[in-house]
Amino acid sequence: MDINEINELREAIKASPDNIPLRKYLANALIKLKKFEEAELEYKNALKHAPNNASLKLGLALAFCEQEKTSLGLVIIEELVEHDQPLPRAWLVYAKLLLQAKQSNAAKGAYENAIALDENLKDAFLESQINLSNQKNEEAEPQKIKLGGFEDEDADDGKSIDIERPEISFSDVGGMDKVKEEIRMKIIHPLEHPELYKMYGKKIGGGLLMYGPPGCGKTHLARATAGQVNANFISVGISDILDMYLGQSERNLHAIFQRARDMKPCVLFFDEVDALGANRSDMKQSAGRHLINQFLSELDGVEADNDGVLILAATNAPWHLDPAFRRPGRFDRILFVPPPDEPARASILQIHLKEKPLGKIDYSKVVKKTAEYSGADMKALVDIAIESKLDEAIRKGKPIPVETKDLIQATKKHKPTTKEWFQTAKNYALFANEAGLYDDILKYLKIKK
Ligand SMILES: Nc1ncnc2c1ncn2[C@@H]1O[C@H](COP(=O)(O)OP(=O)(O)OP(=O)(O)O)[C@@H](O)[C@H]1O
Ligand SMILES: [Mg+2]
Repeated sequence: MDINEINELREAIKASPDNIPLRKYLANALIKLKKFEEAELEYKNALKHAPNNASLKLGLALAFCEQEKTSLGLVIIEELVEHDQPLPRAWLVYAKLLLQAKQSNAAKGAYENAIALDENLKDAFLESQINLSNQKNEEAEPQKIKLGGFEDEDADDGKSIDIERPEISFSDVGGMDKVKEEIRMKIIHPLEHPELYKMYGKKIGGGLLMYGPPGCGKTHLARATAGQVNANFISVGISDILDMYLGQSERNLHAIFQRARDMKPCVLFFDEVDALGANRSDMKQSAGRHLINQFLSELDGVEADNDGVLILAATNAPWHLDPAFRRPGRFDRILFVPPPDEPARASILQIHLKEKPLGKIDYSKVVKKTAEYSGADMKALVDIAIESKLDEAIRKGKPIPVETKDLIQATKKHKPTTKEWFQTAKNYALFANEAGLYDDILKYLKIKK
C-alpha cells in the first residue's frame, strides 16, 4: 500500500461514506504505514457511522497506544476486554497499553489472556519487554506476612498480609490538614530527627488513632503517610488476625509487629481496631482480653523497641475501644476525621479528575451542592461523570471533556453516605462523652454543650 492507493481509498469512501469495511480497511492501512494520527482520525470517522463496532474501537485503541496516548487507549480497551467475548487481539493491545502505564504485572496477565485465546498472537518482542520490566519490579513485588495457625504452613489457602510500598503521598489526599499536621509532628518528624527528640528528652513512640464516618480518607491517608516518607506499609484488618485457635491471634499479632520492626521504616496501620474490643459477642471475654493485652504490650514495645515503626489506627466506632488504649505512649492522640469541608471537597475533586479530559469546571458550584459528602462520595461523583462522558465519547468517536454539569448531574445519582454515622455518633457525644472525648463531633454538628 502506498500513498496513491490511500488516496484512491479516500475517494472511494467519499462515494460511499456508509461503507464501514472500506473505512476500516483505510484506517488499518494507515496503521501499517505507521501514520497513527491519521489512522486515529479515520477510526473516529468510522465510529461515527458504527459506534458499537468492536473492531473499530480496537483499532482506535491501537492508534492511541502507538501515539502513547495511554490513558485514552486504556479507557477504550478496558471496555472491550470486559465484554463477554472480547477479541483476542484486544487483550494484546491491552497488554501494550498496560506496559506503557508501567503496570507490568497486569500487562503480563493481559498478554497471557491474548495467547490463551489465540496462539498466533505470540509476540516475542512484547514478551521480552514485559519480562524485562517485571524483573525490574521484582524487588517491588509485594512481600507477604504469612499468618500461622494452619496445618500446612506452605498451604496457599493460609491467610496473609501484604507489605506494600505505596506510591501516593500527602498531595494525593485532599484536605485533612489537621490530621496531616499531627502525623507530621508525631510521626514523621521523630522519624526524621531522632537525635533532636533524644536531645530534648522527648519520648518517641505511641500511635495516632483516627475515627470518623466511613469513606473520609482514614485508610487513604495512612497509606499516603507511608508513601510520604518512603516507608513500607502494612495494613492490618483486625478481623484478618483473629483466629479461633487458642493463642493464635496473639501470635499473629506478634508476627506482624516483628515483621514491621524488621522492615523499618514502616507504617503499621490497624484498621477497625474497635474489633479488638472485649464487648464483642463472637469473642469470649477472656480470649479478647488476652489479645488486647498482647496488643498493648506490643505497642509499649515491651519486648522489642518500636523505633522506626509508625503506628496508625482507624475506627468507625471509637466508643467500643478499650480505654486502656488511650493511655500515654499508646494511642494518646485521637483525631476526629470529619467529612471534607468545601476547600477539601474541591481538592478531592481535582485529585480524582487529574489527567482526565477536562473542560471548564466551576469547582465552587459543585462544592456547594455536596455538603455532607465524604471523600469516597466525591470520588463516586467523578466516576459517574466520567462514565457518562465515556459513553458519549465512544458514540461520537472523540474524547468529550468532563464539565461542571456532569458532576452536578452525578449528585442526583449519588447521595452522601455520612449521615447515618452521625446519628449514632451524636448519641455517644451527648451521653457518653467522657473527658470531652467527642467534643469535636459536637462541634461539627454545631451542638453547644
Ligand atoms: N481526602 C481524600 N482525598 C482524596 N481521596 C479521598 C479522600 N478521602 C477519601 N478518598 C477516596 O475515597 C476512598 C475511600 O476512602 P478511605 O478508604 O480512606 O476511607 P475511610 O475513612 O478509611 O473509610 P472507612 O471508615 O470506611 O474505612 C479512597 O480510596 C479515596 O479514593
Ligand atoms: Mg478505612
